Amino acid sequence: MAVCLVLYCITRFASKTPKDALMPKAKVLAFINYKGGVAKTTTTYHVGCCLAQHLGKRVLLVDIDPQTNLTFLCASIEEWEKFKKTKGTINSMYRRYLEGKSLDPKYFIWKEPVGGNIKQRIQGLDLIPCDIDLLGEDLGGGDLAGPIPSFELLKRHADKYIKDRSFLRKALREVENDYDYILIDCPPNLYLMTQNALVASRWYVVTAIPDHLSTIGLSILQQKARRIGESFKHAHTLAGGDAGPVRAAELGGVIFVRVRLGGSMITNVHFSTMVQVRSSLGHGVCFEGHTTELIGYGEAAEQSLPVWMTNTKNAISAARKGEYEQITNELAKRF
Ligand SMILES: Nc1ncnc2c1ncn2[C@@H]1O[C@H](COP(=O)(O)OP(=O)(O)OP(=O)(O)O)[C@@H](O)[C@H]1O
Ligand SMILES: [Mg+2]
Repeated sequence: MAVCLVLYCITRFASKTPKDALMPKAKVLAFINYKGGVAKTTTTYHVGCCLAQHLGKRVLLVDIDPQTNLTFLCASIEEWEKFKKTKGTINSMYRRYLEGKSLDPKYFIWKEPVGGNIKQRIQGLDLIPCDIDLLGEDLGGGDLAGPIPSFELLKRHADKYIKDRSFLRKALREVENDYDYILIDCPPNLYLMTQNALVASRWYVVTAIPDHLSTIGLSILQQKARRIGESFKHAHTLAGGDAGPVRAAELGGVIFVRVRLGGSMITNVHFSTMVQVRSSLGHGVCFEGHTTELIGYGEAAEQSLPVWMTNTKNAISAARKGEYEQITNELAKRF
């Protein structure tokens, strides 16, 4: 009996070594789709708010879209201007990176911006805000900016290729032990910043409206994301580095958004597209939860609050559906 107890203690506590204590690195996820208006930002925001407010997680939202929409879902323009003036934005951090200075990402993190104006601050939810100035940077990179450069080009410019895509990875490494989740809201393209996000993330999540035009690009998107990862790894080898530890994001799932209802039923077109995409992507790739087309999401956006903290009739009715709660619970189980 005593021997059993000793053995139990050894195995039990051996699994709680200091290595495990250091384990809780953030799960880094990029929300992407090169198609615009498919609720990438609304989803990043609501999932982030829900993880922090309802599941008690420490969450960092990262806005890398020069449209700055995620930032404005978190705070008012006035608050953002104040933060930008005193601290800066992701663009200031990027400039430091290009100048070879230390990134100091903690300095650029906006602590708990959501809900401050109504004195219901969401605790544990931080933001690295964005800035329209990032637009110029995002389009930079010349021939190397596209997702898949030719072999010759990659060979000649491997170091630059790696450097251009390593900014976010480097910045997030410095804060990943402070969070459970880091969620990156990408612009509707696959330019440099999105490539940075893919290189910095463990998974990418795609939001898609279940109609023909929105879903035909899904397999292309997967292909491109894979090629971006391969090129990055390849560049490491060409630069003489060890590509072993280099890992680009894998598809973490597809979330259907803005699903149209006729009465209480999903309309035929959306329903059949969802069935077809689910079967073509394989079991478990698509989330069970989805969002439906509801005015309340737009109204909540105007108030820089998640639907469940917004007091208009439509937002309250959207909140009652608990759509993002279901999606967030699933996401927390997956990752
Ligand atoms: N379920 C929904 N029902 C109705 N409107 C929605 C829903 N989800 C998002 N929206 C609205 O759709 C618009 C586009 O959403 P959002 O900005 O999140 O998309 P996006 O993919 O991030 O766009 P972009 O590609 O421009 O970054 C916004 O006005 C948003 O409020
Ligand atoms: Mg967006």
